[in-house]
Amino acid sequence: MKKYKGILLAGGSGSRLYPLTQAVSKQLLPVYDKPMIYYPLATLMLFGINEILIISTPEDTICIKKLLGDGAQIGLELSYKVQNHPNGIAEAFILGADFIGDSSVCLILGDNVFYMGDQLNEFLSVTHENEGAVICGYHVPDPSRYAVLEFDKDDNALSIEEKPRKPKSNFAVVGLYFYTPDVVKKAKALKPSDRGELEITDLNKEYLNEGRIKILRMCRGTAWLDAGTPDSLMDAAQFVQLLEKRQGLKISCIEEIALNHGFIDHAQFLRLIRKYRDGSDYKKYLMKISEK
Ligand code: G1P
Repeated sequence: MKKYKGILLAGGSGSRLYPLTQAVSKQLLPVYDKPMIYYPLATLMLFGINEILIISTPEDTICIKKLLGDGAQIGLELSYKVQNHPNGIAEAFILGADFIGDSSVCLILGDNVFYMGDQLNEFLSVTHENEGAVICGYHVPDPSRYAVLEFDKDDNALSIEEKPRKPKSNFAVVGLYFYTPDVVKKAKALKPSDRGELEITDLNKEYLNEGRIKILRMCRGTAWLDAGTPDSLMDAAQFVQLLEKRQGLKISCIEEIALNHGFIDHAQFLRLIRKYRDGSDYKKYLMKISEK
């Protein structure tokens, strides 16, 4: 397996969620029964990634550290880096240059919630063979809010446009990106866009121009939700609630993933959940898992 390191970008001022974000980091707001950041973290873990750099604002980093610490309790190696100004998503690779070194890297946005189901296996095999960039398209009714992909008749990507007024397809680029180590050099060479940001889309266009990008379309029935507005936050919470209640299985439960994917052993799982406060359904769920 190609070994990826992970970057979780939990920056931004959360302006679209104000006043929810006046005193609380966006990524710590609840998405039903857990903090938002659990979802992207769980996605990285499902890809088998255990070395993760969390990039956030100076204030939010303190709170995120309080929640997750160094990650050792769930078998992760978490490190932190502060992004002082929201200079764009692609800045993550400049801030994370030392962390990335000569590894491949997966970047996930802190407000993106994924439910991939069985398609996870396709993701694992495609990203394993990656020789450039892998990005993902998801069918949405309102693509103008995102970067949008254009395809030729053989489904090859022709163009990527950031928030176009006239989108060329319904396929939005989701906030989950995989790159070879040369992404750092490419990010350093980017110029800020008209909105003053280092754009992830400009980076992806470089790989597209070089013919080194692979586009994965997320299947019907999978879910990609960005929880960055009041409505999408509510939608994400209701989606998680519905599935969890119906199946009696949790989505993005980081402790369960840590156990099932071998990040920690059963003894560590027990030590961990014994420390959790009694009374929550979350702890009851973990207790039940420990008895299986
Ligand atoms: C960012 C990216 C965009 C991407 C989207 C996914 O947009 O710039 O290309 O489609 O994330 O969530 P933002 O949410 O920062 O406006």
